Amino acid sequence: MTASVEEQQFTDLIAADSRIEPRDWMPDAYRKTLVRQISQHAHSEIIGMQPESNWITRAPSLKRKAILIAKVQDEAGHGLYLYSAAQTLGTSRDEMTDALIAGRARYSSIFNYPAPSWADIGSIGWLVDGAAICNQVPLCRASYGPYGRAMVRICKEESFHQRQGFEILLELMQGTAAQREMAQESVNRWYWPALMMFGPPDDDSPNSAQSMKWKIKRHSNDELRQRFVNMLVPQAAVLGVTLPDPDLRFNEATQLYDLGEIDWTEFHEVLAGRGPANAQRLQRRRDAHDDGRWVREAAAAYAHKMAAKPATDTADADVPNEAAS
Ligand SMILES: [Fe+2]
Ligand SMILES: [Fe+2]
Repeated sequence: MTASVEEQQFTDLIAADSRIEPRDWMPDAYRKTLVRQISQHAHSEIIGMQPESNWITRAPSLKRKAILIAKVQDEAGHGLYLYSAAQTLGTSRDEMTDALIAGRARYSSIFNYPAPSWADIGSIGWLVDGAAICNQVPLCRASYGPYGRAMVRICKEESFHQRQGFEILLELMQGTAAQREMAQESVNRWYWPALMMFGPPDDDSPNSAQSMKWKIKRHSNDELRQRFVNMLVPQAAVLGVTLPDPDLRFNEATQLYDLGEIDWTEFHEVLAGRGPANAQRLQRRRDAHDDGRWVREAAAAYAHKMAAKPATDTADADVPNEAAS
């Protein structure tokens, strides 16, 4: 098969809204874009565990603790599905991990903000997981099969995350004046960084057009940001919190919300590694990698031992050993 026939097949599959699978031919740039996007996404899930796991021991009740543990565990699972999806493109897990701990890989900037109050666990669920859902639901239809399929399960779990965050804030907003103040203060800090999660404005997003052509991405950054704000406004009203944008108002002509100016300087600063918690997050990830070295070595030694065993032995591995001599 000549390259051009393969290329035509690829183009046809994309045009038919069908899926590209790991064994299919694909342009190098498509593969590279996917590896970058999926691995960044995986890193975000893993780094995103940090601000929340930090609150597990301090969660205000046993119920909250159990929910938070389950949520943080979900994020680890998301990271694993996504690393697996990226591996189908020929990049090893080790390469991706090395890039992350060496500071060469990106992850979502939102996780470079600290979570100093309990209400932040509510805001992260409501705003950060909420923004993630808006971004990720269209990715369930991404043209690359393993990515799209991973996203289906991830999105189901993200909906639970978003609701648990909303529910934390709701309970605080129905509490004492100090609790309401804590919730509002937290929403004030997370609102703008959550809007930045959709990426730069459309006219400053050079890779978007190609990703949309390849049907990896289905909507523009600004479109998704709009959709997110549309979802937030009625929910904020139920909560009784104010979204910290004095310019936010419904535009009758466009039937959309007009938003205030986003501080893109802050976005670029955090992206460049100068956010409030970049160094701390990366250091924690490096330490965890070092602390886990003995587990990886033990697992590899065990796998090696099992591989060296005669086949009959491994076939009977679960059976109490009478027949084998
Ligand atoms: Fe997640
Ligand atoms: Fe989540």
